[in-house]
Amino acid sequence: MTLDISITPSANPKTEAQVAEILENPGFGTHFTDHMFTVEWTPEKGWHDARITAYGPLTLDPATAVLHYAQESFEGMKAYRHEDGSVWTFRPFENAERMKRSSHRLALPVLEPEDFVQAVEALVEIDQRWVPEAGSEKSLYLRPFMFASEAFLGVRPAKHVTFMVIASPAGSYFTGGIKPLTLWLTTEYTRAGRGGMGAAKTGGNYASSLVAQQEAIAQGCDQVVFLDAQEGRYVEELGGMNMYFVYGDGRIVTPETGTILEGITRSAIIELAGKMGHQVEERKFSIDEWRDGVASGEITEVFACGTAAVVTPVGTLKWDGGEVGSATETGPLTTEIRQSLVDIQYGRRPDEFGWMHKVI
Ligand code: PLP
Ligand code: COI
Repeated sequence: MTLDISITPSANPKTEAQVAEILENPGFGTHFTDHMFTVEWTPEKGWHDARITAYGPLTLDPATAVLHYAQESFEGMKAYRHEDGSVWTFRPFENAERMKRSSHRLALPVLEPEDFVQAVEALVEIDQRWVPEAGSEKSLYLRPFMFASEAFLGVRPAKHVTFMVIASPAGSYFTGGIKPLTLWLTTEYTRAGRGGMGAAKTGGNYASSLVAQQEAIAQGCDQVVFLDAQEGRYVEELGGMNMYFVYGDGRIVTPETGTILEGITRSAIIELAGKMGHQVEERKFSIDEWRDGVASGEITEVFACGTAAVVTPVGTLKWDGGEVGSATETGPLTTEIRQSLVDIQYGRRPDEFGWMHKVI
């Protein structure tokens, strides 16, 4: 705990009735808690002026560097309420370490992991009534983010950077709840190249995914699948989720890291599957292996995973000229992995991996 955080409680918090109504049906990313965390950085002072204040709009100079050159990174994590009322985060130091890696790639200053976790958990603490009740599979989604806040149009790393955390109660990321997704394979767009920003969690990667996602929706699909930029042959990930492929003989494959986001859910599943007796292969996985494997019945389950999406089954893969798969139900291993993960997150199963971090 190295940040000295000043706290100015909101003069206008939502009433208990308003919070209850929002938590009834929070959706994803539309409602925000009463407070936000902010800390600023300059080369002279380092990180300073850490504060929790009422949630509200920012005033930015039109020349603020992030608006022009996208020097930014963010994280996505959740706080979960357990049956006894306590509130926990899931592997928060992994998010902190990933933000540190994103900072290196984006030439942003490093916020030390203990400061990152302190900031996130201080916000959860003050807004704890916004963490949905246990047993609901709802949670409080946490969005730490860091951006170039210097007003300057020269192209160089900003000399004024702001790190903030906001929080938003969350239900299912997909409006239809948990049902198998239909994916669209884009052959026109890629999300990351060699030496690019694919492994960093930075807004630009999401901006570049939007037109492909629009194409997916126009094709009647839920999400877009990206292939590698060099050969257009290997499966990378979805716009906001990593991918898993399950073979009938028990093998599980997930695309190797390098140009994809190193998902914290992805890595948790490698450990969980290991405990279940499945050795996960992290390797290049070609689109032909996917198509042929599903068509021949060798691949029996496909699923996507991420903080927002948790573990979501994939039913069908479509591309320009064809489709494979038709699963309408969640497969048994997908169900087991999903259940084990959420049971640990909600404290219904012992946390033998040491993943949960108690906030309250
Ligand atoms: N891939 C992308 C592009 C993402 O945005 C996310 C979500 O954060 C993931 C994968 C999954 O990562 P995590 O499990 O850490 O949420
Ligand atoms: C997450 O799962 O936390 C994400 O960031 C995915 C999406 C909401 C961008």
